[in-house]
Amino acid sequence: MQIQVGIVGAGPAGLMLSHLLHQHGVDSVVIDTRSREEIEGTIRAGVLEQSSVDLMTETGVGDRVRQLGMVHEGIELRFCGRGHRIDFTDLTGGRGVTIYPQHEVLKDLIAKRLADGGDIRFGVSGVQVKGITGDAPTIGFTQDGVEQELTCGLVAGCDGSRTMTRYLIPSPEPRQDHFRQYPFAWFGILAEAPRSSDELIYAHHRNGFALISTRSATVQRHYLQVEPNDNVHDWSDDRIWQELRTRVDGAEIKEGPIFSKSVLPFRSFVCEPMQHGRLFLAGDAAHTVPPTGAKGMNLAIADVHVLSRAMTRFFAAGVRTALDAYTDTALPRVWRAQHFSWWMTSMLHRMPEASGFDLNRQIAELDTVTRSRAGRTLLAENYVGTPFD
Ligand code: PHB
Repeated sequence: MQIQVGIVGAGPAGLMLSHLLHQHGVDSVVIDTRSREEIEGTIRAGVLEQSSVDLMTETGVGDRVRQLGMVHEGIELRFCGRGHRIDFTDLTGGRGVTIYPQHEVLKDLIAKRLADGGDIRFGVSGVQVKGITGDAPTIGFTQDGVEQELTCGLVAGCDGSRTMTRYLIPSPEPRQDHFRQYPFAWFGILAEAPRSSDELIYAHHRNGFALISTRSATVQRHYLQVEPNDNVHDWSDDRIWQELRTRVDGAEIKEGPIFSKSVLPFRSFVCEPMQHGRLFLAGDAAHTVPPTGAKGMNLAIADVHVLSRAMTRFFAAGVRTALDAYTDTALPRVWRAQHFSWWMTSMLHRMPEASGFDLNRQIAELDTVTRSRAGRTLLAENYVGTPFD
């Protein structure tokens, strides 16, 4: 089978790319090793920047996010027993973020692709990508026991942080992997409880960071900074609520039965370049950000916004200029998001062996940021995200 773009991975990057390409008349096939049920049923966080919601709306997949998404016009930073609101609307000229879980975005994109006659192959195995430095790369895989091969004009590697496509770019030349490991992890819970706060609370405490978030009016999502090798079994429900209350220091926390506990990986990663021959990486296959900045899904969408245009120009006019410039166009935003996520992380988390100096320096930094309009604006502009164009 011949197609214009073969897309490995049906996550936010792969599905959004396929959707945007379709809008421009470019055909694609998306393959994924997971079943549709698994993809739609894996509950993930979702904080969408204004530009991500705008792009979904403009391209006809924005109905549910506008109906069900919760628009947040600010966040609260808490330290030393006090809350400090960062008012996005006021500081960014009316922009905000929308809380809308990733699996809901995926459901919307899958439904739209299928309604538009799109080709998504779920549950494939034995994926092999070949010939990316030639003129006609291929993607081989097995589906329902039948071996298949797609001959592609271009290949998109959108297979997430457990990517195989990234490793098709030879290392150490040209591929350089930039890694940052953090000496802690996030412990996340889901609880059946009413909302504790109308807005997300990012709390600094000498015991470590805590985040109060939400999934719906009846399901809440909270996180605690823990040791990287902490086990969920070390954390009884009582200990969790106790520690959350201690760390938010004065904000009210509404408790309820906890029905999910998990420890999240926490790292920063960028692969450079994001392309090789006819292979183009997008989303977590190319970079990972720690969750503190709430940037992951937005970066995937921003990547494919750039990539879909470059691919469209390639097929429409046969020019590679925009494709060749993909990495240089996409990377500055990736690094800005890396910096923002790292900054939020370093400002709010307890480092191992933190001294009184370290702790007080962090408090002074939070004080500097929250007391000045310029400081709050810097945080707000980065949190709501810069426009795509
Ligand atoms: C979440 O709701 O899971 C969430 C929200 C904001 C973050 C990270 C995670 O920065």
